[in-house]
Amino acid sequence: MKKYDVCVIKGDGIGPEIIEEAIKVLDAVSHKFNFELNFDYRLMGGAAIDIMGVPLPDETLNAAKSSDAVLFGAIGGAKWDGLPRELRPESGLLKIRKELGAFANLRPAIIFDELINASTLKPEIIKGVDIMVVRELTGGIYFGQPRVKNEKDALNTMCYNVSEIERVAKVAFEAALLRNKKITLVDKANVLETSQLWREVVSELAGNYEGINLEFMYVDNAAMQLVRAPAQFDVILTENLFGDILSDEASMICGSIGLLPSASIGGKVGIYEPIHGSAPDIAGQGIANPIATILSAAMMLKYAFGENEAAEAIELAVRGVLRDGYRTKDIAQYDAKEICSTVEIGSIIADYAAKA
Ligand code: IPM
Ligand code: MG
Repeated sequence: MKKYDVCVIKGDGIGPEIIEEAIKVLDAVSHKFNFELNFDYRLMGGAAIDIMGVPLPDETLNAAKSSDAVLFGAIGGAKWDGLPRELRPESGLLKIRKELGAFANLRPAIIFDELINASTLKPEIIKGVDIMVVRELTGGIYFGQPRVKNEKDALNTMCYNVSEIERVAKVAFEAALLRNKKITLVDKANVLETSQLWREVVSELAGNYEGINLEFMYVDNAAMQLVRAPAQFDVILTENLFGDILSDEASMICGSIGLLPSASIGGKVGIYEPIHGSAPDIAGQGIANPIATILSAAMMLKYAFGENEAAEAIELAVRGVLRDGYRTKDIAQYDAKEICSTVEIGSIIADYAAKA
């Protein structure tokens, strides 16, 4: 029987609750499709700060590096907000992404027909939306040096080099080949030198990919177009900060930020994580939507292990559960037959996946 080692990092806030449900669903499909998952639970973020004094302990990083994949919940919370930047929970996440070489973050934003009324946008605007945001994840202003914070001034640096752009752009081109063959490079090339370099590098690379339609869009326009006519997008390729912002925007097109999964890949070991944060305001109430994390687990099965059937069983289960009207509170405004807690919807999805 095939065996995979998964390093599981629950994190803070709703992290533990949503990870529990993803594990439940993974257990269900691993039995059904005959593979074994070995879960190794490790600390990161505020939970690690409280016990070990740092957001990413060495033993967590080493365990992640020697695993086959990392499944991650969410981190952060008001309790740790006053800490210096390097000691904040978020620094742990940025460091593990960097250390694992996870430079490409795939964030699919797909409208489930079953949830078409859950979006704040009109159904006719969002029908058929199927976007893949490819966000650069280990460069740009998140990591650029120098970075300074004094009492009177502060400095951050946005920098990119050709190879950083090329490697993530290749991921976007490969993705586009398997989809509708369109890439929109989102940038601010009318103002930023980094964006001008992105345009040059991506244009040159396009020569190697026949049949791909490459277009350029300024990020302010892209933010507007995403709510005006989101169906025009196929693959959105963009740098780290723009991708962070636009993927949150794209999630609301789909109905809730609790729905969007992601895969952070490029290195030997990938990180599979929902795009949302730790939502401390709703932690512990049993109302968090675990679907983004459950779908991230499905991405892990597909991208890290090639267990495509099991991944599809999870995706079908999620759709089936939504079709049958089971909803967590965040997506319950319309068409809900039953409002479920985090644990309830996780169990129902696991049942559907086992039967899929
Ligand atoms: C995300 C999050 C993180 C990011 C934070 C928690 C550092 O917002 O994964 O989108 O900005 O990358
Ligand atoms: Mg974000």
